[in-house]
Amino acid sequence: MPHLLLVATGGTIAGSAADSSDTAHYRAAALSAETLLAALPEAASIGSVSAEQLFALDSKNMQPAHWLALAQRLRERIADPAIDGIVLTHGTDTLEETAFFLHLTLPRSKPIVLTAAMRPATARSADGPMNLLQAFACAAQPEAAAHGPLVAAGDRIWRARDCRKRHSHAPDALGGIECGPVASAIGTSIQFEAAAPATAPRFGGALATALPRVDVICAYAGAPADLLEASVERDAKALVLALTGHGSVPDDWLPAIAAARAAGIAVVRASRVMAGGVAPQANFDDAAHGTLVCGRLSPWQARIVLMLGIAQGHDALQLQADLLGA
Ligand code: SIN
Repeated sequence: MPHLLLVATGGTIAGSAADSSDTAHYRAAALSAETLLAALPEAASIGSVSAEQLFALDSKNMQPAHWLALAQRLRERIADPAIDGIVLTHGTDTLEETAFFLHLTLPRSKPIVLTAAMRPATARSADGPMNLLQAFACAAQPEAAAHGPLVAAGDRIWRARDCRKRHSHAPDALGGIECGPVASAIGTSIQFEAAAPATAPRFGGALATALPRVDVICAYAGAPADLLEASVERDAKALVLALTGHGSVPDDWLPAIAAARAAGIAVVRASRVMAGGVAPQANFDDAAHGTLVCGRLSPWQARIVLMLGIAQGHDALQLQADLLGA
C-alpha cells in the first residue's frame, strides 16, 4: 500500500461555520489536518496516510514567502523514500497561483495533488471530504507524477497549469478554461484521459530565497496611467498589464510604459479576458515598445513566471521564453 502525506495549508476545506446551512459566513482554516483525516476513514483503503499542518491560512493571505516555504517543504518530502504521494489542501481563492508556482518549481517524480472545497467542512453536502478522498486516490497513482502538480475537485483532475477559479461561490468553481481535465474520478477510481507532457519544470533548479515585487495592473475605462508609475516608484521589478481584449494598450499609458522600460522594468502585456491570452505583436508593436507578452498565461500566472525568472537574473529575452514556455 502506498504511503500518502497530507500537507494542510488551510482554506474552506478546513472551514467551520456555526450553522450547517450557512455557506457564506464561516471561518476558513479552522480545522487541523488531523481533524480532516479523522473525518475520512475511507482514506485507509487507499493507503497509509499521515498529516502535517504547514500553514492555517485563508488563502487570500497567501504570500510569495509561503510559496517558497511550501515548495521547499514539498521538495524535502518528495525526496523522502517513505512517501509515495502528497496531497495538499488549500483555499480555492488563490489555489491557482500556488498550484502554478508548484508546477514551475517541483520535480515530477511523485504525485502531488492539490485539493480544496467551496463549502466549509460543517456544511450540508460539504464538498471537501470527497475532494480530499479523490485527491488521495489520485496521489496513489504513480502515473500522476509525470503530469506535475494536479488539482482534484468535483470528480475531475486538472493540471495545475490549467486550473482556474471560475465561479465565486458555486461548488464546481475550479476547472479549466480552454481545456478539459487530465483525469476523471469516479468514486475513488481515477481514469487518466491524457498522456503526460514530456516537459520539465521551468524553474526546477535551486529555489530563490526571496522573490521580487511584480505588480498586476488592470486596465478599464479610465484606468489612470499613474498606477504604473506608483508601482515603479514602489520598486516593482516588472509590471503585468491585465489589458482589455487581445492586450490592447490605452494610448495614455504609453508614456508610463516607456518610462518603466527606460528604468529597466519588464512590462508584460496580458489580458483581463478569461481565455486566449496575448500573442507576440498582436494589436501592438512589442518590438518597438520593448514589451513582452504573456502567451496563454493568465496575468497572475505571468506574474509568477516573472518573479521566478527575475530572481534567476533572467534578461528580457529569457523572460519572454519563460512566459511562452511555462
Ligand atoms: C480560501 O481561499 O482560503 C477561502 C475560500 C475557499 O477556500 O474557497
